[in-house]
Amino acid sequence: MPFFTKPDCTLLGPGLYPVASATVPCTILRSPTREQVIPPRANLLKAVTIFLFTALFSTSCRKEDAPDTLFQIYFTADVNGRLEPCGCFTGQYGGLTRIDTWLKYNDPEATSLRLDVGDALKGTTDYDVIHYEHLAAAFQRLNYSALNAGSREASLSASDLQTLVAKTGAPLISANLIDSISGEPVLPAYRIIDSQNRKIAVIGLIDPKSVANTIGKNLEAVAMETTLSNLLPGIESEHKPDLTILLAFTTEETMRSLAKQFYELDVILGGDVPQPSQELVTENESLILFTTNQARAVGDLKVTVTDSGTTDPEFDIHLMEEGIPQSPEILAISKEYRELIRNTELAIDTPGSASDDSVIPGSDFGHEYTGSQSCAACHPTAYAAWQKSRHAHAFTTLVKGRTDADPNCIGCHSVGFGETSGYRREYGETRLTNVGCESCHGPGSEHIKQRALGDPSKVTFQFRPLGASDCTKCHHGEFSRPFKWEEFWPLIRHGKEP
Ligand code: HEC
Ligand code: HEC
Ligand code: HEC
Ligand code: HEC
Repeated sequence: MPFFTKPDCTLLGPGLYPVASATVPCTILRSPTREQVIPPRANLLKAVTIFLFTALFSTSCRKEDAPDTLFQIYFTADVNGRLEPCGCFTGQYGGLTRIDTWLKYNDPEATSLRLDVGDALKGTTDYDVIHYEHLAAAFQRLNYSALNAGSREASLSASDLQTLVAKTGAPLISANLIDSISGEPVLPAYRIIDSQNRKIAVIGLIDPKSVANTIGKNLEAVAMETTLSNLLPGIESEHKPDLTILLAFTTEETMRSLAKQFYELDVILGGDVPQPSQELVTENESLILFTTNQARAVGDLKVTVTDSGTTDPEFDIHLMEEGIPQSPEILAISKEYRELIRNTELAIDTPGSASDDSVIPGSDFGHEYTGSQSCAACHPTAYAAWQKSRHAHAFTTLVKGRTDADPNCIGCHSVGFGETSGYRREYGETRLTNVGCESCHGPGSEHIKQRALGDPSKVTFQFRPLGASDCTKCHHGEFSRPFKWEEFWPLIRHGKEP
């Protein structure tokens, strides 16, 4: 039963999920993780208490012979806006919804350190930014201590990035993203986390190469080596961390090279990589691990911190499989986003702000969408075939899930969304809904105009022939069961009138 890979603690609260194995030793950490840096104002009282508490401890039992401390680190990268998977077909992995359930099960007291290496944001549109506000809320619910800026976060403008942080309180960090005009850092470079009477420094870094062509307005990424050379001595002398973790949004090769140059880095978590770690890499003094895959995989590192360094590392990558229930709390956050977006005016609502990378194939600028209904009279059998297919109900599917106002969903479930004459959110359920004739064949106004003359010699416009690649614009990746023309086309076959 692959529901939970390697449960590492059997001491679960009541009502939790069945334990796969009762013999795995418990690795629950002894005292909860506490964050000291930049406490949100609402938490001031808590912060003061924590401060007193840690101050007490750090004088009484830190330093000299502090006991060896086992740290459990969970980390993600490339969450890519995946608060919850779209539900387009069964077998979908991941989502913060599943990560929440998984963490509650494996670490019910939330004592582990939870970190994100970057690219949690999906894109740079206005609705992506609104969506990120909800992602940030979810990360906070999941007790994440630090979120590094990846290439997508760094594609926002300096001021948008700062507004986002101010608005959400998200613990975003980056040591090398600076305002290209003022030269000032745009985010905190690192966070110091007090956990189990140890100090952990978590530093954020992004590879300038990862944002070479996409970096946001007024942002600049300083060379990583320069940044670390300047930063590390200060962190060492000011905080004397017991564990230094670098969140590095970069390639495996560069992580190794950073490890070679900076012995201070105990752990390097990445990154900008094609797939999650297959093994735990040790380079110089550093343990290197990475993950990716849109919140489908959670990286897991257990490491013991002693007074002279780290020992006994163990690593795993856990797949957030379909069988893991989605957490109601995170689903509720996702729902909040969808209700908010319903009542928010977006750039995509305005004609002319059409995006070039629309998923709708075959669209021909200058020709307008008219709706499937307008094809019915001349193509009755094709129309009847279409009506029987699920394409004719694709928008109803969204309405049922109240996702019909989410621009992330509308594109493949309507006609011409994002194009000047295509579906617009203000139409609601009235026009150009569902995957219509023109979703595949393209806008039909010119065709109808010419065909209505009833004189084939006057016809200068022909729809282009279609094939499998016109289907896979929508039927790809997690949005569809694996697409095979031989299996799919027969289910929607239609053609010339007999
Ligand atoms: C504009 C996006 C889009 C395009 C292009 C598209 N589809 Fe679909 N297709 C969908 C959506 C969305 C659904 C699911 C509708 C629902 O159930 O709500 C779907 C469902 C289907 C189904 C039903 C699956 C089942 O289990 O019965 C078939 C078959 C299908 N499509 C075939 C095709 C073929 C063949 C093409 C290309 C000729 C194609 N589609 C092009 C969006 C698209
Ligand atoms: C890239 C195109 C694309 C996008 C974007 C997309 N869908 Fe889909 N959706 C599809 C296709 C294609 C299918 C049919 C899959 C199949 O039958 O294998 C589908 C099917 C579905 C179904 C299943 C219908 C059923 O009865 O089985 C649901 C629910 C759904 N989509 C919801 C959403 C939501 C919610 C979003 C936004 C978060 C979304 N879709 C975004 C292409 C897309
Ligand atoms: C999911 C995509 C899709 C949808 C939706 C769709 N078609 Fe088609 N249609 C095709 C494909 C693929 C073909 C066969 C390949 C070709 O002829 O380009 C085709 C063929 C045709 C043909 C025959 C073309 C020829 O030259 O033989 C007509 C007519 C037609 N469609 C009309 C319609 C009408 C009318 C609707 C809506 C009621 C519709 N189609 C909906 C994909 C689609
Ligand atoms: C006034 C009648 C009429 C209307 C309305 C009409 N068509 Fe046609 N269409 C024809 C005729 C006639 C042909 C040529 C004979 C044939 O292929 O069946 C044709 C051919 C086609 C073809 C084959 C390729 C081509 O360009 O000749 C496709 C695809 C097609 N129509 C799709 C559509 C779609 C989609 C709509 C709605 C947007 C539509 N038609 C509306 C009359 C019409």
